[in-house]
Amino acid sequence: MVNYGYYALKYIPIAGPWITEREIAYVTDAVTNDWYDKANRYQSRFEQAFAAYVGRRYAISLPSCTSGLHLALHSLNIGPGDEVVVPDITWIATSAPISYRGATPVFADVDRNSWCLTVDSLQAVLTPRTKAVIVVDLYGNMPDMDAIGRLADRYGIAVIEDAAEAIGSTYNGRLAGSFGVASVFSFHGSKTLTTGEGGMLVTDDDALYQRSLLLHDHGRKPGEIMFWNIEIGYKYRMSAMQAALGLAQLERIGELVARKREIFAWYKAELGNYTGLTLNSESPNVRNTYWMVTALFDPSPGYRKEDVMKALSEHGIVTRPFFHPLSSLPAYAQVPSAAEARARNQVAYAIAPYGINLPSALNLNQADVLEVCRHLRNVLG
Ligand SMILES: Cc1ncc(COP(=O)(O)O)c(C=O)c1O
Repeated sequence: MVNYGYYALKYIPIAGPWITEREIAYVTDAVTNDWYDKANRYQSRFEQAFAAYVGRRYAISLPSCTSGLHLALHSLNIGPGDEVVVPDITWIATSAPISYRGATPVFADVDRNSWCLTVDSLQAVLTPRTKAVIVVDLYGNMPDMDAIGRLADRYGIAVIEDAAEAIGSTYNGRLAGSFGVASVFSFHGSKTLTTGEGGMLVTDDDALYQRSLLLHDHGRKPGEIMFWNIEIGYKYRMSAMQAALGLAQLERIGELVARKREIFAWYKAELGNYTGLTLNSESPNVRNTYWMVTALFDPSPGYRKEDVMKALSEHGIVTRPFFHPLSSLPAYAQVPSAAEARARNQVAYAIAPYGINLPSALNLNQADVLEVCRHLRNVLG
């Protein structure tokens, strides 16, 4: 319940974790014992278990997913003069690390159904300066990885998979996080698997792994002379307490993902046939883990996402706007590639004003979802 002063309202959250005795026991163990000669045990256990789960050779635990993207770009030597393609619809964490490296983000349009990058939208923005593409598994959905991978191979550009929102999703039976030269995950408190804040970089590539390992710890080689830095790096490490929480959550990944899919199924049963409203899609070769249940509504009644969000908030229902196109953000106002994207990306600009993320927290029950759907139908008329 939220007390707004004048009346108490049931509060239906947008996102949040599912914590059990297992998580509490592991974090208690880490905070009690992971010091002195036992320091870093949980980071190693979490990394090994995570790499095995995703089916990658290597995993590096990090303070965030953003730092994972930064490390991947740096390890691939991407810098000034290089272009890196991102979908125009994603969180700015996908593109900000391109600017950290002094490279240029190029914003490609998205597909009307999957809301992800397409092979055609990628092809449309390739230039001789394109060095990499960061594909995003948006809201748990996945783009056509095979077609994008083939195009990238043909042009000799690296694929980095931003799987921040898609743990447990699959494309042709392969898990999110197993595509491209490297993939990254977020364990922010809103994510399906959380460590509070945190992230993971996974790869099969020896050189990228060794380089990222060095860079993530102030440029010192593991096991070499103490305090001997061979180049300037970053301080991108996860703590044992976070890793303990992550390991416990990973051991429950099956039920976390199943709950996400169950929440989506409750929405689908209520809103699936509602005219003028589209929920997240799932093509036959994808298993979507629906990190955020998302509703796109028809523009014709004249509502925009902010109106619907405000109306729902008056009933204690917390929602989020569908991502604004990155190229529309003030942060990119002076960037020439953003001006080109504003003129080109018709799908991104057509759908972004009319979408909202609905409450998708792991602690929701079916009655909460029915309540949200009832109010949403009322608002949309
Ligand atoms: C698509 C996407 N990429 C990257 C990130 C960044 O994750 P973090 O906050 O762990 O750096 C997020 C987080 O919300 C995200 O949704």
